[in-house]
Amino acid sequence: MVATPPLTSTIATSHKEPHLRELGINVNHWYAVARADEVTADKPRGVTLWQQKIVLFRDRNHQVQALEDRCPHRQVQLSHGEVVNGEVECVYHGWRFDATGACTHVPYLGEAQKLPTCTLRRYPVREQDGFIWVFPGDEARLAAEKIEPLALPEWDHLNYIATVSLIDVESHYSFLIENLMDMYHGRLHDDLQAWADPVLNTIEESDHRVDVHYHAQSYYRIDKIWSVSQLFFPALRKLHPEDLYVSYVYPNWVSTLGQDFKICCLFCPISPTHTRAYLIHFTSLQAFHRLHKLPVAFRRFVKNRLFGAAQKMLDGLVVQDVLMLEQEQRSFLADPSLKGPELNRALGTVQRLIRNQATADN
Ligand code: FES
Ligand SMILES: [Fe+2]
Repeated sequence: MVATPPLTSTIATSHKEPHLRELGINVNHWYAVARADEVTADKPRGVTLWQQKIVLFRDRNHQVQALEDRCPHRQVQLSHGEVVNGEVECVYHGWRFDATGACTHVPYLGEAQKLPTCTLRRYPVREQDGFIWVFPGDEARLAAEKIEPLALPEWDHLNYIATVSLIDVESHYSFLIENLMDMYHGRLHDDLQAWADPVLNTIEESDHRVDVHYHAQSYYRIDKIWSVSQLFFPALRKLHPEDLYVSYVYPNWVSTLGQDFKICCLFCPISPTHTRAYLIHFTSLQAFHRLHKLPVAFRRFVKNRLFGAAQKMLDGLVVQDVLMLEQEQRSFLADPSLKGPELNRALGTVQRLIRNQATADN
């Protein structure tokens, strides 16, 4: 068996500027750290966002709260504990903490003893469009600039069928966003791909996003009630021209293929060599003009029943991409000086945005 190099870096930082593959993140954005239904009423959930361990839990009002995931008593993770009356209870000695991060209860507190004053860092947190979003940056800026999480209006819209796949990849986040912005890698996806023959048309760039337009061919057309069966039977797919837009809306990715498909990728970078992200595929039913005449309860039922209709395709795409991204990361760690020629003009623009955001005045 051939041993593969480890995925941890021991690179000497001889560069004046950090290497692209070692850049940090801009913390002044909202990051999707969990799905909303992963945070239940009785169990705290531990997540990691750029090397910060965070515990999520629901308070008495069912509102999600986010604290640093560290019991101030003996520094163990609070996420191993329980949620009791809307407060998080450490599994070790049972100290409890409320949503402000203050200690509210110690089971063996003596009569002459006071509750310890130990406050935990509290993170701004939102539940929006099916996900839990955390803001790890400067709260004064958050308020002053009214920074918002990426909106996913399709999540609750009755005319969109959603599928979610988790990407958990041992690589720097830059490899993943470059993969998503580079539509010339359809070769990898073989019979799973939704598009063919991409030709890059335009690139638009600003300080917080890159928008790339490709001309392409789509395999799918959603105009019949049985169109969803194209997901399962490749023979039903017919190539036809469609516009393919991919956007890096820092730190996330949004793509549309014609009117029928939208895919988003919500990034949760864990460390310089580990990235998690939620890939969300929406199939539009907007082409069915009479859909709005059906009872809402029925439409909700159909939407819920079809949730995950594209699961096999989406999971398959993720497996293929992850294999490539982890090889890129390993190759980088083995020899950071290796750099191949890049023929897709969009990627230089994407790399510039990564660097500008990562080195912006955080
Ligand atoms: S370590 Fe958490 S209560 Fe003691
Ligand atoms: Fe891909």
